[in-house]
Amino acid sequence: MCVRCRIKMGQKSRKRSEFALILLQLLTLVSSAPPRCDSGQYFLGRCKPIVEEKPKCTDLLLSYCDDMAYTQTMFPNIVGHKTREEVELGTEYLLLSVVETLLGGECTPDIRMLGCSVLAPRCEKDKVLKPCRSICEAVRKSCVHAFEGIDMAWPYFLDCDRFFVSDQEGCYDPLEGLRAEEEVEAFSSAPPEDSSTMIQFTYHSNAQMNSIIKKTEARCSDIATTYSIGRSVEGKDLLVIEFSNNPGEHELLEPEIKYIGNMHGNEVMGRELLIYLIQYLCSEYLLGNERIQTLINTTRIHILPSMNPDGYDMAASGVEDSNYADEEGPRYDTWNIGRNNAQNIDLNRNFPDLTSIVYSRRRHKGYRTDHIPIPDFYWLGKVAPETYAVMKWIRSIPFVLSANFHGGDLVVSYPYDLSKHPLERNMFSPTPDDQVFKFLARTYANAHETMANYSEWCGSSRDSQGGIVNGAQWYSFAGGMQDFNYLHTNCLEITVELGCDKFPAEEELYTGWQENKEALLTFMEAVHRGVKGIVKDEDGNGIKGARVSVRGIRHDITTAENGDYWRLLTPGIHILTASAPGYTRAMKKVHLPARMRKAGRVDFVLQKSVLEPDTEEDDINIPSMGTYERFDPYNHFERYAAAEMTQIQEQRAEKPWWWNYFVSSGGSAPTWLLRHY
Ligand SMILES: *[C@@H]1O[C@H](CO)[C@@H](O)[C@H](O)[C@H]1NC(C)=O
Ligand SMILES: *[C@@H]1O[C@H](CO)[C@@H](O)[C@H](O)[C@H]1NC(C)=O
Ligand SMILES: [Zn+2]
Repeated sequence: MCVRCRIKMGQKSRKRSEFALILLQLLTLVSSAPPRCDSGQYFLGRCKPIVEEKPKCTDLLLSYCDDMAYTQTMFPNIVGHKTREEVELGTEYLLLSVVETLLGGECTPDIRMLGCSVLAPRCEKDKVLKPCRSICEAVRKSCVHAFEGIDMAWPYFLDCDRFFVSDQEGCYDPLEGLRAEEEVEAFSSAPPEDSSTMIQFTYHSNAQMNSIIKKTEARCSDIATTYSIGRSVEGKDLLVIEFSNNPGEHELLEPEIKYIGNMHGNEVMGRELLIYLIQYLCSEYLLGNERIQTLINTTRIHILPSMNPDGYDMAASGVEDSNYADEEGPRYDTWNIGRNNAQNIDLNRNFPDLTSIVYSRRRHKGYRTDHIPIPDFYWLGKVAPETYAVMKWIRSIPFVLSANFHGGDLVVSYPYDLSKHPLERNMFSPTPDDQVFKFLARTYANAHETMANYSEWCGSSRDSQGGIVNGAQWYSFAGGMQDFNYLHTNCLEITVELGCDKFPAEEELYTGWQENKEALLTFMEAVHRGVKGIVKDEDGNGIKGARVSVRGIRHDITTAENGDYWRLLTPGIHILTASAPGYTRAMKKVHLPARMRKAGRVDFVLQKSVLEPDTEEDDINIPSMGTYERFDPYNHFERYAAAEMTQIQEQRAEKPWWWNYFVSSGGSAPTWLLRHY
């Protein structure tokens, strides 16, 4: 392409720069346009090359490409640079020179070598060879997350479909040099320890965390998938990884569980434990660990290592700062930095307070403690986008069990978090499922190396009860996540406090993993307790939204999409009833032996009923399921998004931190590097 075209277009108005960019890219595809050809003439077909000069192979003299497996290249290269000098002045080459630094060492040196294969392609017998598409796709798959991590778009010149070809078309492997080197290394040194089980017990930045999540997804693609449930205030994805033998789908009767870390941005042990757990589950599954395979084959596991990535950033920089401070005391100053989200909202106080609603109704006949709708006034207050994202997530998946990881103490707390007496701040306030919650909390505490025997409170001295405590008895607060799970959905959630230190020294992370690993696994396995089954009609079709009640526990479970349900229960004799509007009730008595390791299967068949559904227990004050189904009547999120978008766009207008690398060299701004352009 002619350099003048570029200059000419550079003079056009800014508004047209995007158009110019597209033109530029089109033109770069044209390998041998003659000089003096401007774009208009080119498209009119007026400037054809006059003399066809036969290009020849030439020595590869680009310093950032000196480890390629070949020594000869040719100009123009695949994107149309005509000389080595032109390559060296281009943004593409500049990117290759800094990409390893920008990505923090991720994808090294694969990404650079892939770039070299386009900017300095292999030449043999005076013919340019193109690199293999399959290699490009593999590199892209494992590296694209690293680009996302720094908010950079996948570079256009690494477009696998445009600049790479298939084996049949005679491609070469651009990473060949790398592999040769690896083989030499493998020969010369003892075989390294199985790298698949290498977990780095260090802290991880948000970009590193997302990168591990994405890498794990790629490595265990048969059993893992990732998705974002929304974004933080500062626009960071709240990234979840899911493990299941059928990732991405709910399977009939397969229970679902979630782990949430880092809700308070400065409580970081849980976040790291979940990052380690993700890698552990993937590796052990691949290595054939039977326990892990059984768990993943029978359970759908969702892990959100960080619910508050913005807070984490704050907390992490606070800790760095405190290193410069006096050894004594800085902990107190930094104790709460980063706890809240970027709007300074405490996420564990930001959920709808359904517990107060239940308390206010408890003297009504037939009051309920399940599927309490979110009151409209809640939406008039300030709802954090992180809270909103988690609420939507909780409602969209039939979770059975959950744990939320915090720090600052060493204990498992269980609902309710809000005291039933407004003036009693340390009052035991049990749910109807107190037995089940105690069992679940003990399951975690007992499997933990030290929690159950830890008899002091961090900073105070009071006996704990075998490492578990009722939330309200510990200290009462409203708007917590575990109360919301219990009163709004079928999910039972506990809160795990992982240690006195909210942001421990890095050396303690490995100890933390050792102490919690067994508990993390055992707790997930506990989702296979109690009973499960399907509520069907006489034709065998599952009934969605049917209620399953347990006598003596005023908290019903409802069936999921295909009529399946799960009811966590302690061992003993239970009387279960299934009901649905328009059907008769059905009742069953079950005996759950203490040693049971699998949920008992209890199905119900309901007959169509001409009579009005049983209204005996219904109360005029109880909202119907219809109210429950309605979520966010004010479309809070849309409003939020609209208000917040301008803010985000302003931030975007400031450009990412690496932008200056590319504009200071003059020339046109490489907007193709921007993801949100
Ligand atoms: C888990 O499922 C996979 C795929 O179906 C199967 O190969 C494996 O043997 C199963 N493992 C166990 C322990 O059930
Ligand atoms: C914890 O205490 C119980 C009962 O006192 C004891 O049986 C158990 O071995 C202790 N565990 C640890 C790890 O010290
Ligand atoms: Zn906390």
